Amino acid sequence: MGRRVLITGGAGFIGSHTCLVLLEAGYDLLVLDNFSNSSPEALTRVAAISSVSLNSTRLQIEHGDIRNPHTLDQLFSDAAANDRPFDAVIHFAGLKAVGESFQKPLLYWDVNVSGSRTLLAAMEAHACCTLVFSSSATVYGFPKDVPIPESAPIQPINPYGFSKAAVEQMLADLNASAPNTWRIACLRYFNPVGAHPSGQIGEDPLGFPNNLFPFVSQVAVGRRDQLQVFGSDWPTHDGTGVRDYIHVMDLADGHKAALDSLLKEGPQHLICNLGSGAGKSVLDVVNAYAAASGQNIPYALVDRRPGDAAITIADPTRAANTLSWRTKRTLSDICRDGWTWQQANPMGYRESA
Ligand code: NAD
Ligand code: UD1
Repeated sequence: MGRRVLITGGAGFIGSHTCLVLLEAGYDLLVLDNFSNSSPEALTRVAAISSVSLNSTRLQIEHGDIRNPHTLDQLFSDAAANDRPFDAVIHFAGLKAVGESFQKPLLYWDVNVSGSRTLLAAMEAHACCTLVFSSSATVYGFPKDVPIPESAPIQPINPYGFSKAAVEQMLADLNASAPNTWRIACLRYFNPVGAHPSGQIGEDPLGFPNNLFPFVSQVAVGRRDQLQVFGSDWPTHDGTGVRDYIHVMDLADGHKAALDSLLKEGPQHLICNLGSGAGKSVLDVVNAYAAASGQNIPYALVDRRPGDAAITIADPTRAANTLSWRTKRTLSDICRDGWTWQQANPMGYRESA
């Protein structure tokens, strides 16, 4: 039997791709998700791509909420009773829309912070002390220097960012309370984009997309008329904002690397950027996507979006040194795979769900 991992939020964008990589590596998974921002269809497709049966020992699904202590207690108790305890947890479940976090701060503190606290309490009670946590480059706020090392100050600028920083602090406190017990990896993702090359799973935002990649994809496929480019007077090579885009399959590989390392190396508290170290502008993305898709991507240059930084790029040195992980896929791979997904699923999972 393989190692067994509880994946919270495993039906979501990053979780579904990570499930695929872990199944292919031989891990057995139980996904806990309330499907508030995802579809069970994603997991049906993960099972099909990796040729495992849904709800077999390889891939189980539990429809539930991380904020419910009884659900968590039951999962850990059942796992122990069946002699299949969890070796680790990967914690993706959470809310991630910056704009919404300003409108509903209590919801963000509830799901992201209280939900994480409830999960950690269940892990502690059941002596499961290995955790990979989805943090975000958003904890750096407006970075002073780029590329950004992990030692840069934590200074969030929105409620979403504060909720991630709060969980990071909770993990630091927990680790300090029981030295040589916890194996924790806090992964600060930069900008996850793209899709599995099969085009079967990908990002499926509900409603109006806030982020660049899904918007560009929807313009390319004809769901939206044109992209608004937020600012053309940034201090960058072409005046548009620069970001560190990371292929979601590289990110999924990063989770496997972190999990393997925690299970092998023993107690530790690792904080690690996951990014490529390379910056691309909005217009670089538009041009790469147009080349990959063969579509025209109309755009208009408009005012800056409040709360945006000019440039965010990861310093990925620590991930290379500690996890032997670095990104392998290019912007052109990202656009090709994103386009394959968008073309095959112009309305996301909804048509087949
Ligand atoms: P996503 O919304 O696609 O996935 C999150 C999943 O968690 C969804 O399946 C959702 O249904 C589930 N979920 C939400 N609340 C839950 C709850 N209370 N109980 C159980 N399940 C719940 O988002 P994603 O892009 O896959 O992001 C995964 C994680 O990575 C999140 O924690 C997010 O904050 C973090 N992150 C994402 C990005 C990004 O740009 N996508 C960047 C940095 C960090
Ligand atoms: C957003 C979040 C950030 C989160 C990150 C990764 C905001 C303010 N910030 O940041 O907290 O960590 O996603 O999930 O939402 N752009 C356009 N037109 C668009 C959309 C975006 O020009 O329609 C530009 C932006 O100004 C930016 C770049 O594209 O320069 C990338 O934007 P986006 O995909 O939203 O990511 P971030 O700004 O990095």
